[in-house]
Amino acid sequence: MKKKILDIIKKKNKSKIVSLTAYSKNVASILDNFCDIILVGDSLGSVLYNYKSTREVSLKTMIDHSRSVRMGIKKSLMVVDMPHNTYRNSKEALKNAKKIISNTKCDAVKLEGGKKIYKIVKFLTKNNIAVMGHLGLLPQTDKTFKFKGKKISERNKILKDAELLQSAGAFSIVLECVETSLAKLVTKKINIPTIGIGASNNCDGQILVFDDLIGLNPINVRFVKKYSNIRKEMTKAVANYAKEVRKNKFPLKKHSY
Ligand code: KIV
Repeated sequence: MKKKILDIIKKKNKSKIVSLTAYSKNVASILDNFCDIILVGDSLGSVLYNYKSTREVSLKTMIDHSRSVRMGIKKSLMVVDMPHNTYRNSKEALKNAKKIISNTKCDAVKLEGGKKIYKIVKFLTKNNIAVMGHLGLLPQTDKTFKFKGKKISERNKILKDAELLQSAGAFSIVLECVETSLAKLVTKKINIPTIGIGASNNCDGQILVFDDLIGLNPINVRFVKKYSNIRKEMTKAVANYAKEVRKNKFPLKKHSY
């Protein structure tokens, strides 16, 4: 296993893993100073492209954004989401994972699901592809977006799936919208780190969508804390620019050749 991946695994029970999404170079270069993992998430489908679901995101779109993100990363581990329908069987998954890695030089790929993709994850890891799992709410396949872990059957399945992903060789697992005590149990039962999003502080690390964290994406969901109101700042800047252009106050001589 690559050193960077081992470094992430070693953080379990020692220090929290900090992770965020990035879809472009400039953002990635800011995050790189603070994050252990930068994920090019297929959430870009809804955040940037207004798609109804991440199911519409193509491999090409993921690769294009990841190539941009790559240019902004010097230190962090870079993970890229494999989009829906690009890992329906082991052969397809390996072909597409290799395509993502060779085109973007990312360190790992992320796949959603548990038992259903167990053999695929095992095949990828056997072929030296580092895999991050994703359990709980699965935006690529879930019909409704509700938190997971209310029903006993759901709890047992998530725990079993986490153990399966670990045995398939995944190096970490994202837990999305997982009930607090279940996140705690999963985190305790497996030896690889859990990265939570809406899954309490019981996980080994946290991830958020960057556009949500800075308040650029105008959504309000329980698990997002907005650390700034960047829309307000941007609105002020654009309003000033528009005013100055209309009043002929921009550009001045110093902005001209
Ligand atoms: O697509 C994404 O951004 C993700 C994170 C929210 C974990 O999968």
